Amino acid sequence: MNTAIDNPSNNGSLRTLTIDLGERSYPIYIGRNILEASLLAKHLGKGRVLVVSNETVAPLLRPSLDAMLSGRDYNVLQLPDGEIHKNLDILNEIYSFLLAHNYDRSCTLIACGGGVVGDITGFAAATYQRGVNYIQIPTTLLAQVDSSVGGKTAVNHALGKNMIGAFYQPLCVISDTAVLESLPPRELSAGLAEVIKYGLIRDSGFTQWLEDNIGALLAREHGALVHAIEHSCRTKAAIVASDEREQGIRALLNLGHTFGHAIETHTGYSSWLHGEAVGAGMAMAAEFSRRRGWLKIEDVMRTRGLIRAAQLPLAPPAGMTADNFLKHMQRDKKVQNGRIRLVLLKAIGDAVITDEYPAELLREFLQSATAPAQ
Ligand code: NAD
Ligand code: GLY
Repeated sequence: MNTAIDNPSNNGSLRTLTIDLGERSYPIYIGRNILEASLLAKHLGKGRVLVVSNETVAPLLRPSLDAMLSGRDYNVLQLPDGEIHKNLDILNEIYSFLLAHNYDRSCTLIACGGGVVGDITGFAAATYQRGVNYIQIPTTLLAQVDSSVGGKTAVNHALGKNMIGAFYQPLCVISDTAVLESLPPRELSAGLAEVIKYGLIRDSGFTQWLEDNIGALLAREHGALVHAIEHSCRTKAAIVASDEREQGIRALLNLGHTFGHAIETHTGYSSWLHGEAVGAGMAMAAEFSRRRGWLKIEDVMRTRGLIRAAQLPLAPPAGMTADNFLKHMQRDKKVQNGRIRLVLLKAIGDAVITDEYPAELLREFLQSATAPAQ
């Protein structure tokens, strides 16, 4: 993985990281006002283009998309907005559009939106005519720091989150920080959950930086946002380059997600944002790590303090029970031989994937975590 400043025409503000995957390596471009035709042209072939976006993002970015694609044969498909639409029915709408408009194998799909649009478009690209090119233009903080990078694509099933998908890498990722200005505050906080994750799993220094700069991030200060995005992408790039298909270390990127995905599935993908579920899930993982005998109470308090400061929830939804959690957690993709493997913390910056805990300890923990507040 390497970092370089390129494109002097952008006043040196365009940063390029590379995901190092041999012949499937690709760049992540990060900068402000970088949605330019010249950048996209480096990666587009001669084939037709389908931009997949949604009803919220497409109107905001249509002028930039039209300018970037000027002179090309392209369409923009607007999906309905929301996690609840990340499913096989909407995926089929993408296939139907491609077929009805005679898109052939030389086409490129461009995902322009948050993680929902990115995940479903990536899966459409992985499977349409056995695989066509795709490019990610992530427009949420969460998508810029996490979901657009690393090639995980998926749709949800009513019985489980991201249960149908593929590993399929894009040609490039273009993260323009200017697009984050229109992001609702709740979505900004959801993105911060994944940023906090990188510090907790790998980097206590970055966690300290986040504690010092969480206010600047919530205020969308440009320098703080760029640092958080670049650091997050660099961490993810290194992990993905060493374990693309999650045979080992990549599972650490799921800190809080086993609890979080259970919350999302239980609530029908409709009321909790993914990042909010991950925030509460990381608070739960920290407390369970303490009960397992690993994380110190001071570090649990630091973890909870940071999640709270990012304006994320710390507790699961009211009314969700230990049995609700266990039902969904049993279907997690990390389950092996019936054992729920969890990402736990030994210290801030030191995460492990493990099934070495007594099953009864997990049940007792879930019972206390879901007990109504006195
Ligand atoms: P999202 O895609 O639903 O976007 C959040 C909301 O913000 C939506 O309403 C969207 O329309 C809106 N929005 C997007 N960009 C905007 C902008 N610039 N201005 C105003 N509004 C904008 O949610 P998300 O948090 O981006 O992504 C969550 C999804 O990502 C989940 O499905 C999760 O499973 C997935 N994910 C995938 C990976 C991966 O590795 N593939 C990693 C993390 C999360
Ligand atoms: N967000 C988890 C991963 O990309 O592996």
